[in-house]
Amino acid sequence: MRRKVSIIGAGNVGASAAERIVLRRLADVVMVDIIEGLPQGKALDLNEAGPVDGYDARLAGSNGYEETRDSDVVVITSGLPRKPGMSRDDLLQKNFEIVKGVTEEVARRSPRAVLIVVSNPLDAMAHTALKVSGFPRERVLGMAGVLDSARMRFFIAEALGVSVENTHAFVLGGHGDTMVPLPRYSTVSGIPITELLTKETIDAIVQRTRDGGIEVVNLLKAGSAYYAPASSIVQMVEAILLDRHRILPCAVYLNGEYGYRDLFLGVPARLGARGLEKVIEIKLTVEEKSSLDRSAAAVRELVSKLQV
Ligand code: APR
Repeated sequence: MRRKVSIIGAGNVGASAAERIVLRRLADVVMVDIIEGLPQGKALDLNEAGPVDGYDARLAGSNGYEETRDSDVVVITSGLPRKPGMSRDDLLQKNFEIVKGVTEEVARRSPRAVLIVVSNPLDAMAHTALKVSGFPRERVLGMAGVLDSARMRFFIAEALGVSVENTHAFVLGGHGDTMVPLPRYSTVSGIPITELLTKETIDAIVQRTRDGGIEVVNLLKAGSAYYAPASSIVQMVEAILLDRHRILPCAVYLNGEYGYRDLFLGVPARLGARGLEKVIEIKLTVEEKSSLDRSAAAVRELVSKLQV
């Protein structure tokens, strides 16, 4: 029997993730949205691409939740995206109400699922999903670090004229202006970029990574990035469905790791069939730790504004 992934929010990010999941033959997909006809239409369109692309996975669209029952993974992308001039934090109250309602619906019908939260502001929305679902922390993850690291990897590849496949990057912390790209742990074929690039170039890459989301928002003007977010979601989904034990940067609810408690923050995490298997703790310099502290404080402040 094929596995089932439900995607809540059949907008740009949700539908792009659905397409990548079936193209990779990972699972059947159920898309849910409040807009009538939207998830049904996109599901039908993608089913009709199956004969050409050679996938038998099936997609379904719905405005309700019954079809999501017993999902293995539920991806929550429902909510408003940013417009130029908006920070992710400006979405807080509206997306909180949406993520809260959606989590109640999916948790009841798929009590064993792994939830992957994508709606912004990411860390606060993941916190909301954890508290509302009552799931253990192993099964509530936020997607941000894979995306932020992918952006950094692309910039490194461009700067050095090497394949993106040779690059590796680590971005920790909250998914916002305070995120913490770590050049010391970012490598090209195992060589730290601190040995390959000047400080000025690295500083520019770090800043462009932090501004990666808004750079796309400013170009698109209506809405935010979705191709790279969708790819990043699917990397996490694949690690879980195929029990790959992959180490990926994810927003995880910390229980004392890195010195934080009761807080979602981006950290390297090992993902497998049960969701989070282990938080990987890496050594940080005093400067890196204080940047992470600043990021943690920003997430904590945002969460304190929520009634969860
Ligand atoms: N239940 C289900 N779907 C909802 C709900 C709800 N309560 N509220 C909104 N939606 C749907 C919208 O109808 C829309 O189709 O969520 C979808 C969001 O899609 P887009 O507007 O295209 O936004 P997208 O670019 O996909 O971003 C979604 O991901 O990256 C984050 O910041 C981004 O929070 C945003 C989310």
